[in-house]
Amino acid sequence: MLLSVEGLTIEAGGSRPILREVSLSVGQGEIVGLVGESGSGKSTIARSVLRLLPQHARVSGRVLVEGDDVLTMDPGALRNLRASRVSMIYQDPRSSLNPVRRIGDFLTERMVHTLGRSKAEARARALELLTAVGMREPELRLRQYPHELSGGMLQRVVIAAALAADPALLLADEATSALDVTTQAETLALLRKVQSERGLGMLFITHDLHLAAAFCDRVHVLYAGTVVESRPAKELFDDPRHPYTAGLLACTPDLADPRPIQPIPGRPPSLDDVFDGCPFAPRCPHAADVCLTGRPEPVTVAGGSAACHLVEV
Ligand SMILES: Nc1ncnc2c1ncn2[C@@H]1O[C@H](COP(=O)(O)OP(=O)(O)O)[C@@H](O)[C@H]1O
Ligand SMILES: [Mg+2]
Repeated sequence: MLLSVEGLTIEAGGSRPILREVSLSVGQGEIVGLVGESGSGKSTIARSVLRLLPQHARVSGRVLVEGDDVLTMDPGALRNLRASRVSMIYQDPRSSLNPVRRIGDFLTERMVHTLGRSKAEARARALELLTAVGMREPELRLRQYPHELSGGMLQRVVIAAALAADPALLLADEATSALDVTTQAETLALLRKVQSERGLGMLFITHDLHLAAAFCDRVHVLYAGTVVESRPAKELFDDPRHPYTAGLLACTPDLADPRPIQPIPGRPPSLDDVFDGCPFAPRCPHAADVCLTGRPEPVTVAGGSAACHLVEV
C-alpha cells in the first residue's frame, strides 16, 4: 500500500482528540476521497502524512508511506519524504506563492535547493512541467509574477511544482474548492490526467461528497475526527450506510433527482464537544439509546465499512 494510516489518534489540548483511531489507505494509481464538514480533521490527516503535527500534540498510531512510518522516521528520511515522495496541493494557490517572486523562481528554487538540480536543468524541467499542466507560452509564464495569472492558472503552477520531484503520492487538500466551477472542472480534469499518466496515488480532500463520489475510486467519510464510513465511491453514493453519509447526500441539491433538500439538524461538533457514544448521535434521525452510550466500531458492509450501531449488515 502506498499510504496506510493505521489507528491515528491526535490530541492537542481540546476536550476530545482532533483525530480518533483514524485508519485509511491509498493504493498506487488510486484516487481516494476524504470527505467531511469543516473542522472534522481532514487537513490534520493530510498534514500528518508529512509529519506536520499540531504543537505539543500527543500522537499514537502509524502513518506508513510505502511501508515507512512517517511518525518515527529519522530527520534525513523525513526531509527526503517531504522533498520528493509526497506532495501537497493546498486550497489557495496564492498562499503557496510569494507575490514578489516570479513563477520561474518559485518552480526552480525548490529543485535547486532540495533536489540538487543545476539552474539550467531546473529551468528546462520547469518548462516541461508547465507544458504538462497545459500552460501555453511557458517561457513567458516563467517571467511573470503571481498577480499576472488567474487563480486557475496559479493552481496549474502549483500542480506543476507538486510534480517536480516525481512524487508517488499527491495530497490535494480542497485543491479545487476556491475555484469557480469551470476552472474547477478544468483543474479536476488536469489532476486526473497527471494522476493516471504517472500512476500516482492521490488523497483527494473535499467537503463536497458529490464531487468526491464522482472523482474518486473510494471515499472515506470523516465526522468529528473519526472515519464513519469507507466505501467504493459508487456504493457510497448509491447506498450510503451511515446516517451521516446519507444526510450529506440528502442536503445537497441534485438536478437529476429533484427531491426536497433536507439539512442535517444541529451543527458540526467542536473540539469542546465530548461524546460517550456515537459522535453523530445528537444529530442523527435514527439515534437509539445504544448510540448515546457506546462508541460504534466499524462493521463490514458492501465494499467497505460503516461505524454505526444501527447499520444492517
Ligand atoms: N495546530 C492545531 N492545534 C490545535 N488544534 C488544531 C490545530 N490544527 C487544527 N486544529 C483543530 O482540529 C480540528 C480539525 O481541524 P482541520 O484538520 O483543519 O479540519 P478540516 O480540514 O476538516 O476543516 C479543528 O477543530 C481545529 O480547530
Ligand atoms: Mg481543511
